[in-house]
Amino acid sequence: MLDGVLTEKARKDWNRLAENYQAFRQESGTYNEIVEIPAMLSLIGNVKDKKVLDAGCGHGYYSLLLAKKGAIVTGIDISEKMVELAKKNAVKASVQCQFFVCDLQDLSMFNSDNFDLVTSSIVAGYLDDIRKAFLEVFRVLKLKGIFSFSENHPILKGQWERDRQDRRLHWNIDNYFNRSIGIAQWRARDGGIIETSSRHRTVQDYFDALVSVGFVVERLVEPEPINNGKLLNIRRYESAKRIPYFILFRARKSI
Ligand SMILES: C[S@@+](CC[C@H](N)C(=O)[O-])C[C@H]1O[C@@H](n2cnc3c(N)ncnc32)[C@H](O)[C@@H]1O
Repeated sequence: MLDGVLTEKARKDWNRLAENYQAFRQESGTYNEIVEIPAMLSLIGNVKDKKVLDAGCGHGYYSLLLAKKGAIVTGIDISEKMVELAKKNAVKASVQCQFFVCDLQDLSMFNSDNFDLVTSSIVAGYLDDIRKAFLEVFRVLKLKGIFSFSENHPILKGQWERDRQDRRLHWNIDNYFNRSIGIAQWRARDGGIIETSSRHRTVQDYFDALVSVGFVVERLVEPEPINNGKLLNIRRYESAKRIPYFILFRARKSI
């Protein structure tokens, strides 16, 4: 495990947030539901009989979904609590998956040339060293294997400019090139606040890190919300029609 600032913090933060995060993700009309998940599933494509690593699997949302679609899934996460939830969820849903506590930056528990697909949803920002993580992903992928990952869009390093009635005028962005650590605050069900820390990186940082370890980037997606998002959460739908909330990459190990 790496000694960085974020990695150990992520383990503690996500252990604390795990139950609340799962509850938040089960709400209807999250940005994940109306923007990220449909885009990720379309990027991943058919997974039947594919060997998949869900890297930073959280409570197992994608692991279970992909296993139900016929994939042979292994999920890993730095948070023991998340892995515990993922295991429970798989048992509850009678879905076969394997889960391990493991740092995405050190996949030494897996052989090289092992997976057809590595997928990683909104994890990269919590990593100290994305290049090290991407090198590991490259190593464990089979030749021609796919790495699909998503992140909060780097332009989210900003805020809405609001009028006196608190209406959203436009999105302000500044210090885009300052790779600072940002804090997100999550409201827990008991009324408390739980914080997570993540590193801001630019779009080019992600692209360059992928290419530098040998990946060929096949697609870069800035998804708009699905139409049905209107019915699920009109406020979030309208926001997501104005600015990109997520960015996704599909990269291939082709050498
Ligand atoms: C925003 S949650 C996303 C969870 C899941 N991918 C999903 O979409 O439901 C971020 C997850 O990344 C995990 N994580 C953070 N740093 C990690 C690391 N170095 N290695 C593996 N997982 C990590 C956290 O524990 C947390 O479960």
